[in-house]
Amino acid sequence: MKLQGKRAVVTGGARGIGRAIAEGYLREGAAVVVADLDGDAAAATARDLGERASAVPVDVTDLGSIEAMVEAATASGPIDILVNNAAVFDMAPIVEITEASYDRVFAVNVKGLLFTLQAVAKRMIAQGRGGKVINLSSQAGRRGEALVAVYCASKAAVISLTQSAGLDLIRHGINVNGISPGVVDTPMWDEVDALFARYEGRALGEKKRLVGEVVPFGRMGRPEDHVGAAIFLASADSDYVVAQTLNVDGGNWMS
Ligand SMILES: NC(=O)c1ccc[n+]([C@@H]2O[C@H](COP(=O)([O-])OP(=O)(O)OC[C@H]3O[C@@H](n4cnc5c(N)ncnc54)[C@H](O)[C@@H]3O)[C@@H](O)[C@H]2O)c1
Repeated sequence: MKLQGKRAVVTGGARGIGRAIAEGYLREGAAVVVADLDGDAAAATARDLGERASAVPVDVTDLGSIEAMVEAATASGPIDILVNNAAVFDMAPIVEITEASYDRVFAVNVKGLLFTLQAVAKRMIAQGRGGKVINLSSQAGRRGEALVAVYCASKAAVISLTQSAGLDLIRHGINVNGISPGVVDTPMWDEVDALFARYEGRALGEKKRLVGEVVPFGRMGRPEDHVGAAIFLASADSDYVVAQTLNVDGGNWMS
């Protein structure tokens, strides 16, 4: 029970990696607020996860919505842990990238992540009991990819923001760190697979099978593969870990 008595907010927690982390935190004794754009899915997830889970709708691209979510989350107690997990994916060759796609990806993955972190950090500073922030980056943030320029750039920005925020907020006892997954079997990867099918002329499911086959661990990641690292970075075990982004990817990036 490494998180006994703690309260966590998980953005994008209705499904995928965020949901698995929410579930892991509950097992470790925390109370969890599932904050997601899809309010109905967040409510259904919170119902499934049990009585220490609750749901609040949020659109992290909207600062007013972030503020309302944080207000609702703090109504029943302080926030000790933020998992900045909400993100969207898109891809296109450089000459086909649209302004709308760029704006959407950066609005959610970068602006949304920064201003959610800011809103929660203000509360954590006022609470005076420190805190833990875990930002979800990606192997995509470690290097560019021919067809994935905008998403890769957004995830590189997450690594950079984790470094800057980590260095700034540690004087308040707030650890900011990140997790960089590789390829993970979630609803997001079904969208990724469909886009690769379009741009590389593949059959549906083919890209997903191929990327899984080359992971050194021997298979694609599963949401639950990220839970141990997320618990570590939310617990006192990581108090001296500052501004790091940990690859949790079955060796995929290293290979
Ligand atoms: N799946 C992968 O292979 C993979 C790999 C590397 C990194 N990641 C990262 O891990 C995190 C989780 O990915 P996933 O695969 O579980 O994603 P997912 O698409 O399955 O889930 C993302 C959740 O975020 C929510 N969301 C989207 N826009 C939002 C907004 N504006 N405000 C609030 N919530 C919003 C969605 O409703 C959804 O519930 C993301 O940051 C993603 O970039 C995923």
